[in-house]
Amino acid sequence: MKTSELFDVTGLATIVTGAASGIGYAYTEAMADNGARVALFDIDRAGLDAAVAKIRSRGGEARGTAVDVTDRAALRAAIDDTARAFGRLDVLFANAGIDSPPGFLSMTGERTVDGAFENVSDERWDKVIATNFTSVFTSIRAAVPHMKKNPQGGRIIVTTSVSALRSEAVVGMPYMPAKAGAAHLVRQAALELAKFNILVNAIAPGPFITNIAGGHLRNPETVKAFARAVPFHRLASTDEIQGAALFLASPASTYVTGAQIIVDGGTMLGNWD
Ligand SMILES: NC(=O)c1ccc[n+]([C@@H]2O[C@H](COP(=O)([O-])OP(=O)(O)OC[C@H]3O[C@@H](n4cnc5c(N)ncnc54)[C@H](O)[C@@H]3O)[C@@H](O)[C@H]2O)c1
Repeated sequence: MKTSELFDVTGLATIVTGAASGIGYAYTEAMADNGARVALFDIDRAGLDAAVAKIRSRGGEARGTAVDVTDRAALRAAIDDTARAFGRLDVLFANAGIDSPPGFLSMTGERTVDGAFENVSDERWDKVIATNFTSVFTSIRAAVPHMKKNPQGGRIIVTTSVSALRSEAVVGMPYMPAKAGAAHLVRQAALELAKFNILVNAIAPGPFITNIAGGHLRNPETVKAFARAVPFHRLASTDEIQGAALFLASPASTYVTGAQIIVDGGTMLGNWD
């Protein structure tokens, strides 16, 4: 098969949550630039409008929906409306997520008060679990009935993190169990949905320069600390996630399900040289 056919996503009806910024926007752009029809979901209405305009200016077919992924009823309604507008649903990127600062260590290695286990508030725990874990469940639950109607099935791609696979000192505590939960949910959904040719996979990014946590991954001190843990000694730019996204949404991955593709510049290798 030619590369152009292997990675063909032309016409695929695609939803991306958290699409106004960062990794979600990069997924959206990769799909739209290659002919998919994209629906951008985000809580940030201004960012959403700008992202939709940008996709359209590149010649893409895009629609935007302002929705909070922690609002279960609103999220389901938005997915149903989008599937109706497109006439189908082929691909879902469950990507929206937030950071959970501070970690128990500061960037310079001191213990923090707010990051200490006993000081993590119920509100902080609940918000991170709702946004980064429960929303993945509610997104998949709403998408599946639409994908089951497709004879060729569907694709579900969840953004996890290297934090799903290991513990972290400078990342706020609730983030790790939320992402690990999402990663295991991917495997469980993949097992059940294989019969319907709905392939469910995760992308686990390492440090990418985005607007997460108010853009703290753009702060030079943070960049320096994170880059030290990456064998490439740099953080990633969001276009470096697009290959994995296209792979998992296209015919290139017809025998891949329940997998987690790590895109981390080797961070999981544990290098600190
Ligand atoms: N940047 C990284 O280094 C990194 C590393 C690993 C995993 N991730 C994950 O990647 C995903 C995308 O994050 P990013 O780094 O691109 O951050 P980002 O802040 O640039 O983008 C996240 C988007 O999600 C939206 N969002 C947040 N809460 C929402 C809600 N309740 N409902 C709807 N939309 C909401 C935001 O408005 C924003 O547009 C997240 O799941 C994050 O945990 C990021």
